[in-house]
Amino acid sequence: MNKEEYRLQLKEWLSSIQPAIQDDNIRQKVDHLWFSMDDEHSSEQEWYELAERIAEDMNPQEDMREVAAGSHKLPPLPYRYDALEPFISKEIMYLHHQKHHQSYVDGLNQAELALKNARRTNDFKMIKHWERELAFNGAGHYLHCIFWFSMSPSGKRKPTGQMLRLIEQSFDSYDAFKSQFSAAAKQVEGVGWAILVWAPRSQRLEILQAERHQFLSQWDVIPLLALDVWEHAYYLQYLNEKAKYVDRWWNVVDWREPEARLKQAQQVRWTPF
Ligand SMILES: [Fe+2]
Repeated sequence: MNKEEYRLQLKEWLSSIQPAIQDDNIRQKVDHLWFSMDDEHSSEQEWYELAERIAEDMNPQEDMREVAAGSHKLPPLPYRYDALEPFISKEIMYLHHQKHHQSYVDGLNQAELALKNARRTNDFKMIKHWERELAFNGAGHYLHCIFWFSMSPSGKRKPTGQMLRLIEQSFDSYDAFKSQFSAAAKQVEGVGWAILVWAPRSQRLEILQAERHQFLSQWDVIPLLALDVWEHAYYLQYLNEKAKYVDRWWNVVDWREPEARLKQAQQVRWTPF
């Protein structure tokens, strides 16, 4: 789609939602988008971001929806399968999205339902298997959601503003960041990912490699409560009785920290899939 077609499509969409707008705040954003579309220096990416914010404001409930256990869905791609050619072929995009990502969605739903059933029947014999499936497929699903939406045929090819400032602060320069990210990606052991992350505790960006998708994590999640079961955490006192240590650990848990973390973590909201 070229810029003119996109402009036309957005104008049609704006006209269709305009009668339903009650809120002055949203009306202001709509005016901003109209204005931006008539400004020759503004880009499609800017229009898209403005439109996205309007859509979010118009459907707050939609955004608040949780994804119930077993009901993850494959997100539709925000562009056509051939849109990233010649860099990524249509065939790859189709298989990758329709077959591979779909299989992670299915596997995640299956694991979540199996764990729900295990809780209901208090039968955790298969806990290791299902936790592994939960992590593998969950990480696969969440990372692909980030991946698809971080590409586009006519997007913003270089960061600006806060993102650029933080990249320069964390990696010295954008070029140095790119070199490290590419090297990390090329040297992932076997299969996996290179991932740019925000570390809330050190207030810095970091680059990490993920082998496979996960190594029993899900990446898109924020830890709230953690129990250390390395031997160094209990062996001196409990020797090989790890189970006893775990059971007794509940006597010293302090939920104030997980509760405080939850409050902050809930500020983060991504579109549910
Ligand atoms: Fe993939």
